[in-house]
Amino acid sequence: MSMNVVTLLYLVASVCFIQALKGLSHPTTSIRGNVFGMTGMAIAVVTTGALIYKLAGGHLMGLGWVLLGLVAGGGYGAYRAKTVEMTKMPELVAFFHSMIGLAAVFIAVAAVVEPAAMLEGLAKGAAIPTGNRLELFLGAAIGAITFSGSVIAFGKLSGTYKFRLFQGAPVQFAGQHMLNLVLGLAMIGLGLVFMFTESWPAFFAMLALAFVMGVLIIIPIGGADMPVVVSMLNSYSGWAAAGIGFSLNNAMLIVAGSLVGSSGAILSYIMCKAMNRSFFNVILGGFGGEAVSAAGGAKEQRPVKSGSADDAAYMLSNAETVIIVPGYGLAVARAQHAVNELAEKLVHKGVTVKYAIHPVAGRMPGHMNVLLAEAEVPYDQVFEMEDINGEFAQADVAIILGANDVVNPAALTKGSPIYGMPILEAYKAKTVIVNKRSMAAGYAGLDNELFYMDKTMMVFGDAKKVVEDMGKAIE
Ligand code: TAP
Repeated sequence: MSMNVVTLLYLVASVCFIQALKGLSHPTTSIRGNVFGMTGMAIAVVTTGALIYKLAGGHLMGLGWVLLGLVAGGGYGAYRAKTVEMTKMPELVAFFHSMIGLAAVFIAVAAVVEPAAMLEGLAKGAAIPTGNRLELFLGAAIGAITFSGSVIAFGKLSGTYKFRLFQGAPVQFAGQHMLNLVLGLAMIGLGLVFMFTESWPAFFAMLALAFVMGVLIIIPIGGADMPVVVSMLNSYSGWAAAGIGFSLNNAMLIVAGSLVGSSGAILSYIMCKAMNRSFFNVILGGFGGEAVSAAGGAKEQRPVKSGSADDAAYMLSNAETVIIVPGYGLAVARAQHAVNELAEKLVHKGVTVKYAIHPVAGRMPGHMNVLLAEAEVPYDQVFEMEDINGEFAQADVAIILGANDVVNPAALTKGSPIYGMPILEAYKAKTVIVNKRSMAAGYAGLDNELFYMDKTMMVFGDAKKVVEDMGKAIE
């Protein structure tokens, strides 16, 4: 395969990746986006395999290793993607990022130890050019930070490990920011020493500091902010890949890495905007900690109106317009199919049903859209926050299923930890039905005034059971 064909195929793969990102921006085009992504990746992988074969002078040995990696990594990835529960998706993504970071580190170490084997056109024993050393330093440092940071994020997200650094509550200590600053400067200093002198000890010391930095950057951030952190690490992993792509002179890695890097950065920005948080506020930590301590703190007991699934079914079937607000609890209960069946019955009775999706409903942007698509909820019933908020005031019933923070009017009150976070204005509906299991707080750990309003009826219980019971009551 000539280099011209390789370049052409890489270009085709790059166009596929861009089309994939475009397709994934809307539920109706997301399947097409996925197909583009898979096609682009297949072209990129096969072309790179052919390139390696050519660079290895037609020896099959190198290609065998590539195939082994493909089968082992691809097989494991396919298995995890197939078996993962939707609520565990952020952990899986954190795991994948840690692998990308580690891959970047391994490639950089190989290039530093065996430059002639890794860097195109370099004679055996020749020094690594200064430009390549800079790329290797950056790729390795970002890769190492991504790896160890993603491991901590994984632990915090899963919430199942006893290890203190894996707990949702932030780990903060006096002088933390100063320590991070000093270590960060030392890491850059060592990287520059490597760049100017090609000193191995400086490179490996820089690498060790980068691994430590990854841990230190993520531990002060609370569990509630982890999805933003995962998206930020996603961006880092892309830049690490792009940096390594420059060293290996591989256009595909540069393009794919830059796409991941910039889309991850944009996603972090969108998430911060949806939670009304500044990016630095998230990174410097604190929010998740407040959440945990507020959730654990004593709460006053106030009376609420509660009813049964049958009461709710009666109210729903007598409404003209119903807006369903799905939240994290619905995802946990796997109630999406039951909700679709309930909605179908209501539509059959002539009720107009719409779903309202908050940009950070659930645990990842797009989480709810994927869940509802899985249950075959028609796309034309699903509305984004800015498109549906104006309709709550006219809705007869807003039914909130396992959501809490995203409908909490505390976001309108100055001084509240979620002040300014855009919310779904369910409190404006004529009647509000809320399903959750208890009066426990949501992710941000705050009480929700909506539950105590006169027009609100609480229906306690697991979302799946409650929604199924509502469906049964509507015949
Ligand atoms: P939450 O505020 O976490 O509320 C979910 C509610 O579901 C809980 O109050 C819980 O109450 C209830 N629940 C749990 N399991 C249930 C079950 N089996 N059946 C019925 N109810 C159940 O969720 P949300 O409103 O979707 O908001 C998401 C939160 O995550 C926001 O605070 C958001 O800022 C945060 N966050 C999201 C993202 C992204 S990107 N999605 C990023 C960062 C932070 P009970 O325990 O009483 O049942």
